[in-house]
Amino acid sequence: MEFESVSGRLREVRVVTRPTADGRSSVSFRNFVIEIPYSRDLKLNIGTLLAVDTMEEGTSLILEVADFIPVHYGMLNLDGTIPKEIRDQVMEGVESSWKAGESKEMWVDVFAYPIGYLMTSSGFKKGYVPPLPGTSVRILSKEAFRKFVCYEGGVEIGKVLGQDIPLTINLNKALVYHMGIFAFTGSGKSNLTASLIRRVLRYTDAKVIIADISMEYAVLLIDQILEHNSLLISTERYPQNPSDARRKFLRSHVVPEELDDIREKIGDAAESIFRGQKARYLYMPPEGSVELTYGDLVELVKSQIDDKYTAFAQKPLFSLLLKRLDQFMRENKISKESVLDDTVIPLLEEASERAREAGLRENSSIFTFISSVKSYISTESPESNEYDVEKLAIDILDRDPSSSRLFIVELPNLDEARELLASLIEHVMSRRKRAFSNLPILFVLDEAQEFIPFDTRQRDRSELSSSAVEKLLRHGRKYHLHTLISTQRLAYLNTNVLQQLHTYFISTLPRPYDRQLVSETFGVSDALLDRTLDLEVGQWLLVSFKASLPHDVPVFFSAPNNLDELRRGLQ
Ligand SMILES: Nc1ncnc2c1ncn2[C@@H]1O[C@H](COP(=O)(O)OP(=O)(O)OP(=O)(O)O)[C@@H](O)[C@H]1O
Ligand SMILES: [Mg+2]
Repeated sequence: MEFESVSGRLREVRVVTRPTADGRSSVSFRNFVIEIPYSRDLKLNIGTLLAVDTMEEGTSLILEVADFIPVHYGMLNLDGTIPKEIRDQVMEGVESSWKAGESKEMWVDVFAYPIGYLMTSSGFKKGYVPPLPGTSVRILSKEAFRKFVCYEGGVEIGKVLGQDIPLTINLNKALVYHMGIFAFTGSGKSNLTASLIRRVLRYTDAKVIIADISMEYAVLLIDQILEHNSLLISTERYPQNPSDARRKFLRSHVVPEELDDIREKIGDAAESIFRGQKARYLYMPPEGSVELTYGDLVELVKSQIDDKYTAFAQKPLFSLLLKRLDQFMRENKISKESVLDDTVIPLLEEASERAREAGLRENSSIFTFISSVKSYISTESPESNEYDVEKLAIDILDRDPSSSRLFIVELPNLDEARELLASLIEHVMSRRKRAFSNLPILFVLDEAQEFIPFDTRQRDRSELSSSAVEKLLRHGRKYHLHTLISTQRLAYLNTNVLQQLHTYFISTLPRPYDRQLVSETFGVSDALLDRTLDLEVGQWLLVSFKASLPHDVPVFFSAPNNLDELRRGLQ
């Protein structure tokens, strides 16, 4: 059965126009008012789908319920101008008719909006055809809803609100097109992030890297660190002795109150992380000791050409080197930000060869220049066994099945966090470009406003992290590098990145600006976004554009509690 037994009628079509969030233009949304007979067991929910006949024979338009209000005919004109006694009398009468159940005087006004799909005899298709006012509006049955909304055979990420059906998504596709989690503080962003990561580890082959500035994921995913090959990476040193390290772990991490009863178990788990060599101290080079990049080399060569003290005979050779460098970078897809490495040496040798053929003297500046660059490259940076960002990038890209899959990088110092993330993204991207592989890698950035703020500053390194993350979002997909970002205010974010995300998880966003931005990005009605204000902790609106779901239908769901999953995982 495709439809529920009750049906309603389309009474009004309203078009609502408002200025866009940035105030530069305007957007319109179609809102439909449908009346459905009231009965006590009428099952309506925000998010319920409806079908209404259209001008095209055999084609119905799909609408999504954004709100509904019970109405009683007896009260339509009941306002303060009517004497109090009469008002009371009328309302008493109305109250008893609600209690009695069905009556022709009562109905439900349902506010719904079109989601861009039509239902025809051959199935669903994208489109819009105006519906016929006055015609009947049917409610999609649970099974029809499930078939239309959920991804068959997908990964369950919670239950559809009010429908008690599992919400299944195409997790691989969600990964590919990047994800965003947006909600007011305390709405459950970290909790949802952690439970999504569990599913990524379980149902995909992706590796996951969490840039954790609030030091919370080591606890939220501690069972996962034990279950999978993982590394807990920290910019602070832990004591060698596992039981001392355990004590330090418990001191420096917040264990949520709900887990008070298993605090010792969490301590045991932490101890086995240290015993199992799953913890690493991350070496951060002192500030300012940045490595030379390909861009720096280009600049150095250019300045040799421009330098008035460079002998004329050498300038064409420097120009040749510049040209070859440019060609080499283009052929090998090397960006200016990539760290200079030994792959450039043959190029330098070729330039020396040309210089020698040209008969330049051994002490010409071009030879000095080339040999100093070569010696820079071949001098291993203070060779040590320290685990640094380069080793981390190598581990992340390692395709061996026994290599680590989950990397929790704890970065409580914000400036350091931004610098490290930028450099990690550069290393991973440039290595991926040179040695392509389709092993997916997911970067998780909680508190994303710290890495990609609306206004970036050089001083606090946010310029670095913001441009690296922007690049990751724009170009990552080609290299199977994906991102999940989470933040409490969209307004604080570099909005360039928002268009790159195709899956949004939204919970309560108190500021109208933030909600408007989402409705404009996806063409979802304001009325529906406003309903996120009623969501409780752990309840979400999933909006996807050609990513997580078979059809682009905004769907409300309640997420599992990660802490319950953690508890089960530790048993
Ligand atoms: N799906 C859920 N089911 C039950 N409880 C939840 C759920 N999600 C979150 N919570 C609880 O709500 C509280 C806040 O969750 P969380 O820390 O994930 O919020 P947040 O949005 O990340 O907050 P912040 O903005 O401070 O980072 C936690 O105590 C958590 O256990
Ligand atoms: Mg959080």
